[in-house]
Amino acid sequence: MNIAVLGLGRMGQALAGRLLDAGHRVTVWNRTAGRADDLVASGAIEASSVSEAVAGADAVLVSLSGDDAVQQVLLPDGAPVAELTGVVIDCSTVAPATSRLAADHYRDRFVACPIAGAPQAVQSGTARLIVAGPAPAIQRSNPVLESLSDSRQDAGDDAGTAAIIKLLNNYLLLSGLVVLADAVAVGQASGFSDSDLAGLLNELPVIAPGLKNRIDGLLTDHHDPWFSVDLASKDLRLFAELADHAGLQLGALDAAQASYRTASEHGLGQRDLTSVIESVRRPVERTD
Ligand SMILES: NC(=O)c1ccc[n+]([C@@H]2O[C@H](COP(=O)([O-])OP(=O)(O)OC[C@H]3O[C@@H](n4cnc5c(N)ncnc54)[C@H](OP(=O)(O)O)[C@@H]3O)[C@@H](O)[C@H]2O)c1
Repeated sequence: MNIAVLGLGRMGQALAGRLLDAGHRVTVWNRTAGRADDLVASGAIEASSVSEAVAGADAVLVSLSGDDAVQQVLLPDGAPVAELTGVVIDCSTVAPATSRLAADHYRDRFVACPIAGAPQAVQSGTARLIVAGPAPAIQRSNPVLESLSDSRQDAGDDAGTAAIIKLLNNYLLLSGLVVLADAVAVGQASGFSDSDLAGLLNELPVIAPGLKNRIDGLLTDHHDPWFSVDLASKDLRLFAELADHAGLQLGALDAAQASYRTASEHGLGQRDLTSVIESVRRPVERTD
């Protein structure tokens, strides 16, 4: 298939790479030039505008930072991109209202497909796709989705439902990570070596698999970004909007938001979300 990928952040790069590996013809676009070199070396075609990228594409995969970016790219001047005649598959994490707005405009050609999983999971074909949209759009998207992953959750025909499920997932991940960071900091301060602590935490049945992936990142102080603090704050803000809309006050949400805000205030907004541990960890006193 001819597939366009809009947005070459960490996720967009992984999605485009996966589609190239599957043998598709992939055209890529990114707002800021210079992020497509590795993909071009692997066979992708780089377009210099959204219109150029999507013209003639059977499917257009979107992976952008958030709501404003998705609306600016998919609905410039409030209307669909004229050259875009294929099916749109939006993998960005956005508010349900944004998915519904895009669905209103692209109608039977829009699928919301937020992804639960890291770029590494996308590359290896194990990321979880949360898929919602009208049946004709899903049907047109299936060959692309099947190239991406076998792990899939079908969420019906309302695109906004996929966004809500994704925000529930990310609240569990992001608030859980703050609690896990506390446990790691206390474990380190109690004198466990990093390898002993990793081993014992990995054996505990109460830590979800998505959080176990993060133990190594919490133990170090590198925090090379794979999911940035700023994106985590955005997801928690969207989740808070859902809670506000329902008139709910969530104490754990307040604590989680404060942790990511503190990391941002310490200049860690573009670092990996495991850097939330830095505001609670104190230097380990070594005896050796
Ligand atoms: N990383 C993860 O582990 C992960 C996992 C699941 C879901 N997600 C979601 O996937 C999406 C992408 O995440 P990511 O990690 O790839 O983010 P990222 O590395 O920060 O990349 C963000 C992308 O959005 C583009 N962008 C931002 N504002 C834009 C605008 N106004 N117009 C056009 N392009 C714009 C950026 O372009 P520039 O290069 O020009 O700035 C870049 O391509 C997000 O919605 C995120 O929440 C991420």
